[in-house]
Amino acid sequence: MGKLIVANWKMNKVRVEAEAFFAELDGLVDNHSKNAYAVCPPATILHYVSEVAPKKMKVGAQNVYYKESGAFTGEISVKMAKDAGASFSLVGHSERRNIFGETNDDVKEKITALQNDGLDVMLCVGEHLEEHDNLKAVLQEQLSVLKDVDIGKVIVAYEPVWAIGTGKVAELQDIVCAHKIIKDYVKNMFGRDVKVLYGGSVKASNAGEILSLDEVDGVLVGGASLDPKQFAQMINTEC
Ligand code: 13P
Repeated sequence: MGKLIVANWKMNKVRVEAEAFFAELDGLVDNHSKNAYAVCPPATILHYVSEVAPKKMKVGAQNVYYKESGAFTGEISVKMAKDAGASFSLVGHSERRNIFGETNDDVKEKITALQNDGLDVMLCVGEHLEEHDNLKAVLQEQLSVLKDVDIGKVIVAYEPVWAIGTGKVAELQDIVCAHKIIKDYVKNMFGRDVKVLYGGSVKASNAGEILSLDEVDGVLVGGASLDPKQFAQMINTEC
């Protein structure tokens, strides 16, 4: 069965760079690959990317604000992200939580706003290094925002904070353990199966072993997703 490979470009790439990325990606992706793939570009090129990305590729926002409109300088609403071509949005990325002070309450509001407007949700969760001994409680608290949410339209991304952009990947058995905690909690609390992606220093050279794990439904990739060669190699991985 195929898996889901998602690029999170973070605050990288302007239009010409995106154009060059897709021109190169086109010749590298194996069209017979069973894997699905998606990209979350910066908001400024969301519309452009949704026009030029391959038809098969979903396009998502990196963040949205939960208010419908009004005096919220610098923010984009769900309706705006949707209008620009997004079919889903990341929510609760650790960079949003840690740099911009996003709380679980904000995350909950964003999930509700996205679902009200028909967009899918990619909820990011993960522990700081010093929280690792307390992994289960930390993840469960972050997942508690899924109460009264349509879980069928949610994918969870497990991204240990200490593994993001550091080159340090979680051990395979730790990835399995965290994904089991997430899947069991969602099943027990909300009665639904949920897909879980792994993120944190995934690159072409380690994606194969991570994607081969049964508990891993895909990967959310930052730095390495900026390179069309690495991203194509991940899409082409047989899982
Ligand atoms: P890196 O792949 O650069 O570690 O980033 C992971 C991430 O934060 C994806 O959302």
